Amino acid sequence: MATYIVLMGMQGAGKGTQAEYLAAQSGLPHITSGGMFRAIMASDSALGRQIASYYDLGHLVPDNLTIEMIRDRLMAADATNGVILDGFPRTVTQAESLGALLESMHQKLAIVPYLSIAENEALRRLAGRRCCKINDQHIYHIDDNPPKVSGICDIDGAPLYIRSDDEPEKIKQRISSYKNETTPVLEYYRIKGVLREINAEQPIDKVSAALLAAVEAAKKA
Ligand code: AP5
Repeated sequence: MATYIVLMGMQGAGKGTQAEYLAAQSGLPHITSGGMFRAIMASDSALGRQIASYYDLGHLVPDNLTIEMIRDRLMAADATNGVILDGFPRTVTQAESLGALLESMHQKLAIVPYLSIAENEALRRLAGRRCCKINDQHIYHIDDNPPKVSGICDIDGAPLYIRSDDEPEKIKQRISSYKNETTPVLEYYRIKGVLREINAEQPIDKVSAALLAAVEAAKKA
């Protein structure tokens, strides 16, 4: 049986940070809907401009576009042993589509780790986030997880940048979308019995250890 994991949590909870760690530990691909959208927007296509019209305001991209993108990605050869989904699903419609897709593949979700964090800590983290220009999943924080050389990615030496949606007004909109559209997804998975809450206010390595233990336990269950 393949291992399908959905990482959930408010903006800034550490989904991208922890997904990279889990991918390195498990060998499963890290699939980030936000990262995929940023790559499409960088290509300067009609689709990129359409996505930017939502992304740049901090709004969710419509379900049909998002579901199609993730469905295609899940069909890729590197996804046959499972995946770590980060940022998808974010609406109940997306969660239902994912469930139907996995069912059609005779698969199911192993676990939905929920990285829980208070809003004020999320805001503090987003204000200090820096990402690598070449790979925005190389994520740093100016105080909590700084690069060895200020402004430079440790992994590939590229400059770091501030994501366009990390401006205060856009963060406010993203958190509002999270409260209205994504918190019902937490309840959806809680009822299905796959949600596991992890205290994401601990230091990064402590969160990683708790996450790995939860995933290992789910795989044995
Ligand atoms: P996306 O890219 O998914 O962003 P997000 O959900 O807003 O989440 P973030 O990337 O902001 O936070 P994170 O939890 O990954 O935190 P991180 O690890 O970086 O989505 C962007 C946009 O794309 C959306 O607004 C929407 O427009 C669109 N989109 C994406 N998916 C969609 C979908 N399914 N449907 C529709 N639209 C969609 O950590 C944050 C900071 O904290 C970093 O600086 C990090 O170093 C630091 N940090 C992490 N953990 C810790 C810790 N334990 N202690 C101290 N610091 C920490």
